[in-house]
Amino acid sequence: MIERPWWQHAVTYEVYVRSFADASGDGVGDLEGVRQRLDYLEWLGVDAIWLTPFYRSPMADFGYDIVDHTDVDPLFGTLGDMDRLLADAHAHGIRVIVDYVPNHTSDRHPWFVESRSSRTNPKRDWYYWRDPRPGSSAASDGRPNNWLSLFGGPAWELDPATGQYYLHTFLKEQPDLNWRNPEVVRAMHEVARFWLGRGVDGFRIDVAAAVAKDPELRDNPLDPDPKPGQFGAEWLRQVHAHDFEHPDIVAMWQGFRRVLDEAEPPARVSIAEVASDDLVRWARYYGPQLDAVHMPFGFHLVRADWHAAWLRAAITRVEAAVPDGAWPNWVLGNHDQPRIATWAGPERARVAMLLLLTLRGTPTVYYGDELGMENVPIPPDRAQDPWELNEPGQGRDPARTPMRWTAGPNAGFAPATAEPWLPVGDARAGGDVEAQRRDPGSMLSFTRALLRLRRSDAALLDGAWSPLDAGDGVLAFTRAVPGRRVAVVLNLGADAASVALPSGGRVLLSTLGDGVRAGERVTRAARGGGPAAPLAAWEGLIVELDEP
Ligand code: GLC
Repeated sequence: MIERPWWQHAVTYEVYVRSFADASGDGVGDLEGVRQRLDYLEWLGVDAIWLTPFYRSPMADFGYDIVDHTDVDPLFGTLGDMDRLLADAHAHGIRVIVDYVPNHTSDRHPWFVESRSSRTNPKRDWYYWRDPRPGSSAASDGRPNNWLSLFGGPAWELDPATGQYYLHTFLKEQPDLNWRNPEVVRAMHEVARFWLGRGVDGFRIDVAAAVAKDPELRDNPLDPDPKPGQFGAEWLRQVHAHDFEHPDIVAMWQGFRRVLDEAEPPARVSIAEVASDDLVRWARYYGPQLDAVHMPFGFHLVRADWHAAWLRAAITRVEAAVPDGAWPNWVLGNHDQPRIATWAGPERARVAMLLLLTLRGTPTVYYGDELGMENVPIPPDRAQDPWELNEPGQGRDPARTPMRWTAGPNAGFAPATAEPWLPVGDARAGGDVEAQRRDPGSMLSFTRALLRLRRSDAALLDGAWSPLDAGDGVLAFTRAVPGRRVAVVLNLGADAASVALPSGGRVLLSTLGDGVRAGERVTRAARGGGPAAPLAAWEGLIVELDEP
């Protein structure tokens, strides 16, 4: 195996803290709940967990609106709980990555309270304050520019007391920090140092693309050809040329990287949330000398079109865009997306897991996806996500429902006396950890076997990625290091298929059944051709090739 920084060989597991395990019995997951499940995570075989925000927050956006970056919200526990979780996770061989939210704070953060208090307050410039447009009369037409909130409506809110507007890329309860003010940069770097000092292994950087805005805050142009996408129709009508990703974004993350590099060993990692479809822009986040973030998240296959040709082209493009020496990253699901088993279909959930864990790079598995959890329908009167309340239908609650541990009350997520903050859903959908652990043919058993295989297989950890020619409906590629080559073949369709392989080989793992095919030889000659792997509908295989 090639000697690499730990995070290049790691599989990260996203713990949405509110929904993982509730030890306190208030219906909301907490840090102690996560600590009590470390045995499970070690058994599963993940290397690192990413904890979503657990900082003090009024919870307007469920923790992405912070009032104190260096304390734990009582809902999730105490700083002592966090220290215990860190120590125990490390004792289990699991690293801990925490969320870092640079773009905005809560409107109740003391910085914003001060900033808002008067036009001359020393912290006024810590946020974006602007006068109404000259000549405007009513609040509605005085907005400084045409920028929109991702969660619906304009991105500007008038503060009547001081007569100026402030900017909020998300909720009006989440004012944007001004990263062009060096005091803000210093204060936010101190936040990172605080957590590095407590021993966290890295940061997941929330909306990393938003911190650099056009210095002149110019209007965004309108998109002559708006494409459908994840955000509201109004938001998609603009080209987001000025509210995101001004070119000096890279320098901002280079500055942050220096803070990480100065920390005591072991090496810490930064993974940035960057949604850019433009791969040139996306790749810039690595930095010109690989000196900005360690990895931008690779969201390129999220809600993908599950056609082999499309996937192959998309992966090839990303592989080509990753700079020399940099390391790719892959994600299929997270707390902002529908569940994979829902958008890709339950049959393809295993194929999707196989793909995620066999591409070259660091993958992130979203909690519950190892069970094939599906979106849980949320009755309108239980909706929690502020985005859903602003723009019905956009909400993320269905993918944030409690982890299903057992078939017992509250799916074992919370004590029977508690009411979980979101419904746990139907017991039949996807099963639970307890039942799936006993079933060698379950999605959980499959995921665990795959994680174990990946950990011990030099080709899967380090190997170069090359696509193979395969028929319609089958995605096939190899991963190769000197002396070892494996093929990964994924049947994305409902018909049986056969894939020609560069040499004979031995099946290491199948997505179907209880791995009964493992050990099977693939030497069967296709009619008139070389070796071929037969695939059942929606079957994926890893084949160790005889010829490296
Ligand atoms: C990121 C988070 C999302 C949050 C938003 C605002 O996209 O993943 O959950 O609502 O940032 O902080």
